[in-house]
Amino acid sequence: MEKETSKKDIAFYWGAATSSHQVEGNNRNDWSDFEREHHLMPSGLASDHYHRFRDDFEIAKHLGHNAHRFSIEWSRVEPREGEWDEKEIQHYRDVVAALRERGLEPFVTLWHWTVPLWFRDQGGWTSNKAPAQFARFAERMAEALPDVKFWITLNEPNVYTTHGYLRGNWPPGKKWAFMQYRRANHMLASAHKKAYTLIRQKNKNAEVGITQNIIWFSRRSGLLKDFFFNHYFVRLVRGHQDFVGINYYFSDRKTKQYSDMGWPIDPEGFHQALHAMARYKKPLYVFENGIADAKDDRRAQFIHSHIGILQRVMHEGGDIRGYFYWSLLDNFEWDKGFGPRFGLVEINYETQERHIRKSAWEYKRIIESALRS
Ligand code: BGC
Repeated sequence: MEKETSKKDIAFYWGAATSSHQVEGNNRNDWSDFEREHHLMPSGLASDHYHRFRDDFEIAKHLGHNAHRFSIEWSRVEPREGEWDEKEIQHYRDVVAALRERGLEPFVTLWHWTVPLWFRDQGGWTSNKAPAQFARFAERMAEALPDVKFWITLNEPNVYTTHGYLRGNWPPGKKWAFMQYRRANHMLASAHKKAYTLIRQKNKNAEVGITQNIIWFSRRSGLLKDFFFNHYFVRLVRGHQDFVGINYYFSDRKTKQYSDMGWPIDPEGFHQALHAMARYKKPLYVFENGIADAKDDRRAQFIHSHIGILQRVMHEGGDIRGYFYWSLLDNFEWDKGFGPRFGLVEINYETQERHIRKSAWEYKRIIESALRS
C-alpha cells in the first residue's frame, strides 16, 4: 500500500540558486566599480538572466526543480537613496510570477554582496545608517512581493567581511582592518534584525533568516577559525531567525579530488556542517552546494554524494527542508571572472546559448526518486 497521505506534510524544496550580480548583466553597483578600478574581468552582460529569466526558469522546471533561490539587486530598485524605481520593482514581481507559473517556490535573497553606489559612498556597512537603510529596502520588498514566503536577508556575511575587510580583495578593499571588520559585522547583524522584524510585520506568513557559508575545520587547531568563520555571525543574530541557511563547498582536509577552484571535495565535511548548524535548533536549508567543473566529470558524483549525506542527516533526525544546488547557470564568479563553471546549465558567453549539462539530468533523477519515496 502507498503511504501517499502521510508523506508530504512538510514540503521539501529542491532547486538551484543564483544571485543578481552574477547572472543579470548590466548592473551598476559597488562591485561593477570595483571591477573597473581593480582591472578585474568586468561582469558586463553576465548570463543576461535579466532578459532571459523566463527561459531559464523553464529549464529549471524541466529539470524537476520545485523551488528557486534568486536575489534582488538593491542598486536597481533604489538607485538613489529613498527613490524607488517602479519599473525595476515590477521586474522582480515578474520574476516571482514567472517562478510561480512554473510551480517553483521563490526564495528571495535581499543582499548577495552588492550595494548601491550611494550606500557605498556613505561608508557602506560601516556606516551607522546602514541597518535602517537596509531594513527600509527589505520592508519595501516585502510590501511589493506579498506572496513571497521565504526571505534570506543576508548571504554569507562571514565570507563578505573576510574578503572585504581582512583580505582586501573584494569591495570595499580593506586589508586587515579589524575594527572595520568588527563594525561591519555588527551593522550587518543589526540590519538583519531590523529587516527580520519588518518583513514579518508586513507578511504574517513570512519565514526569514540568513544563510551562512560553512567550512569544516577538521583539526583542533582550527577551533578559533571555526568559531569566527562559522558561528560568530549566526550568534550575533540569534533569536531573529526562522531558519538557518547553510552554504557548503569544502573542508580543510586533503582529499583525493578537487574542483576547478582547487577546493577539496569532501562530503564528510557537509555531514559535520549540517550537524554543527543543527545546534541552533531551527529548520535548516542548504541554500548553496556546488562545484566548479567545466568538464562536468565530477559534478554528478558531487551532487550524489552530498545529497546522500543530507538524507543521512535527515534519518539521524535533522530537520532539513530544502536543497539548492549552486548554481542553476554558469555565472560571474566575482574576482575570478567567468572562468569557473558552476552551472547545471552551461553558458556560451559569446552567444548566450544555454546547454543543459549531463549532471543536471542526474540531479533531476535524484529529485524524482526522492519525491517518490
Ligand atoms: C557565494 C556565491 C559564489 C559561490 C562559489 C558562495 O560563497 O554565495 O556567490 O559564486 O560561493 O564561489
